[in-house]
Amino acid sequence: MPTLSIIKADTGGFVGHCAVHPDMVEEATRRVEAARGDLLLDGKVATCGDDLALIMTHEHGPDAAAVHSFAWDVFHATTRIARDLGLYGAGQDLLSDAFSGNLRGMGPGYAELEFAERPSETVLCFLADKTEPGAWNLPLFRMFADPFTTAGLVIDAKMHAGFQFEVYDLYQEKRIVFDCPADMYDLLMYIGAPARYVLHSVTSKTSAEQAVATSTQRLSLIAGRYVGKDDPVMIVRCQSGLPAVGEALEPFALAYTVAGSMRGSHHAPLMPVAAAQAHPSRFDGPPRVVCLGFQISGGRLIGPRDMFDDPAFDRARAQANEVMDYLRRHGPFEPHRLGLDELEYTTMPALEDRLSDRWQPLPTAATPATTPAAAAERHAAAAGRR
Ligand code: F6R
Ligand code: MG
Ligand code: MG
Repeated sequence: MPTLSIIKADTGGFVGHCAVHPDMVEEATRRVEAARGDLLLDGKVATCGDDLALIMTHEHGPDAAAVHSFAWDVFHATTRIARDLGLYGAGQDLLSDAFSGNLRGMGPGYAELEFAERPSETVLCFLADKTEPGAWNLPLFRMFADPFTTAGLVIDAKMHAGFQFEVYDLYQEKRIVFDCPADMYDLLMYIGAPARYVLHSVTSKTSAEQAVATSTQRLSLIAGRYVGKDDPVMIVRCQSGLPAVGEALEPFALAYTVAGSMRGSHHAPLMPVAAAQAHPSRFDGPPRVVCLGFQISGGRLIGPRDMFDDPAFDRARAQANEVMDYLRRHGPFEPHRLGLDELEYTTMPALEDRLSDRWQPLPTAATPATTPAAAAERHAAAAGRR
């Protein structure tokens, strides 16, 4: 059975955190091409913002040491180029020097899905920049559980039974499976809090086929400090009992709000764009999503088609610009800035330390705000006015 793996990392930005330098893309492409027919069935290199993604088919299954160490080597090679060119944040997502079996906890993000190839295997690969893994929660719910988005949930007998949603709790490192439509409201209670609860996979109840895999790593939780946003990726299989391509793209016609953008610390609209437009510049945003469509045939990746390169998403892009204008005018105020519990920069603890002895307790009945003498004076002044 083939496995589709998207493995991605930010190994250096050009310019700032906007894009990947062409030399890095060239090096990654050269290595992927050399591995094709050997380690890999097929492979493509793509970018979104400052993230480099390796889209690979192979027969080693998910979490395979050989595939992960290949990606690790590619990212080290692109890091060397980034260092050589003085690019920004070279090697940013490589949290460790030594590779140990697979990429779990090492920094790069990945989504992997092993599947029996259907006679015609339609797959969408979503890549995002300047946001976090929970950013996929809303569109996945709409694709696989919302009949106002996906007509097939009502009309197609192969979808009518619904889907199972696997959710990770990233804080407590545990998982749960919700059965939809029955568990829909329970599911929403969790995934409506995308900083903590992240959809990891979706499976058809009719065919038992896994339709979705997302990257769920949160770098800051791994590294224990701010190391950039996680810039997630996602695989969505489509058609024949799964959402049609058009149903899987429909949720992105709304520029919904995600966490990310400048310093990973702001709410901003997610803008669906063609690959050539996936270079967040304004306020390190708005966060971008690109979608590369493939047909997979005998493990070969036929494509990509640049799915958001379509005027049908012009309004979502215009909406994203409008929402960005609105949010930006809030400056450092919530809800533009993330809530304190979500702020990943270390500013707050340092500030708390520095100001700790300037904070005074609030007055209570036992400790009046004013001295008795001041109160008597105020009383006398008030009496004089009467
Ligand atoms: C977002 C991101 C950027 C940086 C910002 C400041 O994920 O990485 O928004 O946080 O450009 O970067 P530094 O602190 O490196 O100057
Ligand atoms: Mg970066
Ligand atoms: Mg990035």
